[in-house]
Formats: sequence, C-alpha cells, structure tokens
Amino acid sequence: MTDNTRIPIWLDTDPGVDDAMAMALLFALKEYDVKGVSAVAGNVELEKTFQNARDLAAFFGRKDVPVFPGADRPLFREPRTAYFVHGENGLGDVTLPRSDAPVEKLPAWDALYEAAKAAAGELVLVAVGPLTNVALALMKHGSLHKLLKKIVIMGGSASWGNATPAAEANIFCDPEAASTVFQCGVPIVMCGLDMTLKTVMTPAELDRMGELNPTARFLRDAAQHGLAYSQAHGIDGMALHDPTAVLYPLYPELFSGEEAGVAVETKGTITYGKTVTDLYSDKQFPFKNALVLLDVDRDKLIETVMTLLSRY
Ligand code: RIB
Ligand code: CA
Repeated sequence: MTDNTRIPIWLDTDPGVDDAMAMALLFALKEYDVKGVSAVAGNVELEKTFQNARDLAAFFGRKDVPVFPGADRPLFREPRTAYFVHGENGLGDVTLPRSDAPVEKLPAWDALYEAAKAAAGELVLVAVGPLTNVALALMKHGSLHKLLKKIVIMGGSASWGNATPAAEANIFCDPEAASTVFQCGVPIVMCGLDMTLKTVMTPAELDRMGELNPTARFLRDAAQHGLAYSQAHGIDGMALHDPTAVLYPLYPELFSGEEAGVAVETKGTITYGKTVTDLYSDKQFPFKNALVLLDVDRDKLIETVMTLLSRY
C-alpha cells in the first residue's frame, strides 16, 4: 500500500471511552494515513481529553502521531461534561501510562488547517466530540471548507436525543459550533443516534473482546463504568457511537442512510442542540448537506471491530 492509496485522515475527539475504542480502530487500519489527532473539551475537561488522547496514541503504539490541544469550552454556552458515563478521568477511571511524546502547542484549529493544506483537498475529518475545534478552524481559516474532502461526524439524530429528549450529546455540548459546521459546505456524513444506538456491544461481547489482547482488555475494562450507567438506563451494553464514525470511510457498506437537509437549533429552549432533518417532512430544506446514517449491519460491525482489535 503506498501513501497515495491510503486515506489521509484527522480525528477530533473528546476521550471518552468510546473515543478510545475509535482511536484504537483508527490506528489498527493501515489504510488510514493519520495526519493528526486533536482534543476538545466534551466528555471531560480539555486538560483530561488532551492528556487522554496523548496517552491513548502512545498506548496504541502511535506516539509518532501528533496530538494537538483544542478548545477548553464551547463557543457560547456553558461547558457540560459526562463524568457519569466516562468516569472521573474520562477513561472509565482506568489509568494508562503517561505518554512521553513531545507536547504539541499549536492549537487544534491551526494544526487541522495546516494538515488540510498539506493534503491538498484529500483530508477526511472524523469528529467524534463537540464540534468546537472544527467550527473555530472553519471560522479562522476561510479556505478550510475547500480543503476538506469530507467531515464524518458522530453526533445528532433524526429523532430523539441522549442529552435531552431533543439533542444528542456532542451537538448539545456546542450547538452553535455544530450549526457552523453543518452550514460550511463540506460534504457531511452524520453518524447519529438513529444508527449508533443499533450498535450496542453486549457485556458478553465486551468480555470476548477483552480476551483478545492487553489493548482490547484495556478497552473492555474502561467500558465497565459506562456499561453500569447504560444498564441502569435500560441499555444492556455499550453503544459504539464513535467507532462507527472512524469505520465509515473504509466500510461504508456496513451502513445505510439518506441524503438530507440538516440544521441545528440554537435558539430553542426545549429543542436547543437538536439536529433538525427534513427526512420525514414534506417541507424540505432548500439544501441537502448531509448523508444521515439510519441503519447498520450490527453483527458485521461487531465482527469488524473484533478483527481489527485482534491486530494489537
Ligand atoms: O452521544 C454520544 C457521543 O457523546 C460520543 O461521542 C461520546 O463519546 C460522547 O462524546
Ligand atoms: Ca466522543
């Protein structure tokens, strides 16, 4: 495989337990040429998501991939975290060795722009946290939208929410940033809850994954905190929210969806952060800005995850 056949890719993330599995899959895929990782405040504060992203890259054997610090708060709203799912440290309170890779100082929004310029329009951006970094990059660098090939987002929903009845967590953490991204003109793939909640990995599957090797064991152990929360709220397993966004560019055949117009509610009170799609409406938006994924071959997805993680 030569560099020009590999997919240049950038991950923006708020690790986060499912983010950690997403990173493990990202680095297991030799078809991806990972240009960089950027951390954003989300599941836990930036100081922790940045450290977690650094430590995860090292743990997965990719200290060579630069990890950049991003926004420590949303554009306008007050920050919100998800300790109740991801634990105090963001990784299910499982401790990783500290990375000794050089600490990058360039802000995420500038590093992403530099990578997009270098990839000359071929960079695929996968964003699995609040979209603050992506919005800041698009606002600061007016040509960035012409340099990104695609943005694959874990976020949103054509139906219900998981942060409120209306809004999914990543969008709800920074609705104004999400609105900016959905309007930017770059082709978007929305890995929303309609699809991701069909990917729930059962406790037995998590345990089977944990038997693969020490890396997969870490992911299984880190998942236990969030698993208890899910089980207390009626879901007997771990939804592979972020892993779906990392896998989509290489395995689109696992998923199905529809092109739609998607806009983000930023003024509502009850609906603040809702991704409003025109999928089920006879009133259509005058644009189609996203492929909204609605279904997934769950069993094939789980087996793909197992196969890729067995490479560690
Ligand atoms: O709604 C799920 C999303 O919110 C995932 O990205 C998870 O990591 C949290 O950030
Ligand atoms: Ca995330």
